[in-house]
Amino acid sequence: MEPPEMINAGELVLKRWEPEWAAELSTAVRESLPELKPWLPWATDAYGLAESSDYIGRSVDDWAKGAEFNYAIFTTVGELIGSIGLMTRMGPGILEIGYWIRTPYSGRGHMTAAVTVLTRVAFTLPGIERVAIRHDAANAGSARVAEKAGFAEVSREPGDTGRTDVIREHQPV
Ligand SMILES: CC(C)(COP(=O)(O)OP(=O)(O)OC[C@H]1O[C@@H](n2cnc3c(N)ncnc32)[C@H](O)[C@@H]1OP(=O)(O)O)[C@@H](O)C(=O)NCCC(=O)NCCS
Repeated sequence: MEPPEMINAGELVLKRWEPEWAAELSTAVRESLPELKPWLPWATDAYGLAESSDYIGRSVDDWAKGAEFNYAIFTTVGELIGSIGLMTRMGPGILEIGYWIRTPYSGRGHMTAAVTVLTRVAFTLPGIERVAIRHDAANAGSARVAEKAGFAEVSREPGDTGRTDVIREHQPV
């Protein structure tokens, strides 16, 4: 099971992460910290080139192992505007989508478009019957993206430190 290394999504292009993008990733995360910190535990004030290089390194390894398929999101003119990935951690037959967007590019429908296209790709992969999104119940932005991309709530589970996570799934396409 391996998705394409590059996916065209209209105004966006998803490309498997490459080490040479580490500096731009660090810049993108740092300028988005106020929006990322409440929801993503790795997004801290200490984030820098070491962390972005480490993330890309792990993404390269995880892709090779078939554990995670992480993509940088670019505009068609080459601006790096976020990240999205498919994770196998929920078990066999199901892929979970995770994502974040670079703050100056938020609110333009980009993540809804990226999630929609990656969901379609996920359902083309052999053995994949379910595609899910897990988000903090208090994360209204992520909830709305998931809802607009066609993901309906299927359950709730305890999250980190007293929080509640919403699990959503998409009907097979
Ligand atoms: C959530 C996030 C990915 C949204 O990305 P985006 O590209 O701005 O989303 P879109 O432009 O596709 O917006 C889709 C819908 O969500 C709504 N939305 C976006 N951010 C929102 C927020 N903070 N609160 C409420 N609604 C929000 C938009 O208004 C839009 O709905 P509408 O068309 O009904 O107006 C982005 O805010 C982000 O990266 N957040 C921090 C990281 C995160 O939470 N990742 C997900 C972890 S599960």
